[in-house]
Amino acid sequence: MNVINIAIDGPSGAGKSTIAKRAASRFGIIYVDTGALYRAIGVNVLRQGLDTADPAQVEETLKTVEISLRFIGGEQRVFLRDEDVSEAIRRHEASMAASNVSAVPAVREFLFGLQKDIARKNSCVMDGRDIGTVVLPDAQIKIFLTASAEVRAKRRFDELRAKGSSETYGEVLEDMIKRDYNDSNRAVAPLRQADDAVLIDTTGLTLEQSVQAVIDVIEGRKYFL
Ligand code: DC
Repeated sequence: MNVINIAIDGPSGAGKSTIAKRAASRFGIIYVDTGALYRAIGVNVLRQGLDTADPAQVEETLKTVEISLRFIGGEQRVFLRDEDVSEAIRRHEASMAASNVSAVPAVREFLFGLQKDIARKNSCVMDGRDIGTVVLPDAQIKIFLTASAEVRAKRRFDELRAKGSSETYGEVLEDMIKRDYNDSNRAVAPLRQADDAVLIDTTGLTLEQSVQAVIDVIEGRKYFL
């Protein structure tokens, strides 16, 4: 089979990662979460005691950072040098750090080749913000997943609460709106639906229905027969 690339973009909390992972497993291909790369860069900046909102300081860290994605048992893990930081990048402070560093052009350039390389070698579902527009403009299938900010914040809030986090719904919503703004208004590769992407709004859909909607789009293209 030829390499098939499926790009899924959309704002935070639209359900991209859960849905993309399920779709990838349904078609027997890997799932690549590109947000994890930006999160790892952000965590690395924080660990060095530098300011993620200062582009010059962020750029400085790129000279020494060693970041890689490894697929262990089909599951993506992200490494800083030899340390598996897959859990550390999920902490709350890593989200805003990732959003900040992702606005730095040098960071996007740094990660561009890494993402392209994985997609060239592997059939995959790759999710992010600029996959269909910038990273994989030639992806065979592009999907833009979205939902209202309130529904996305509620989903994230439930997830955080299940993990024992004490943030309020109001804080999660405020954070979500701020990140949406950052991600959609940055000068380089802002979050935007590609002209040839299929829009799926999951506001009124359950997770199962959302997964099915994505699978239906992929099956409709008949690449996986
Ligand atoms: O999907 P996520 O929440 O893990 O992404 C973390 C941040 O990284 C998010 O604020 C936007 C940014 N990001 C990006 O700019 N481009 C991508 N392809 C993926 C994520």
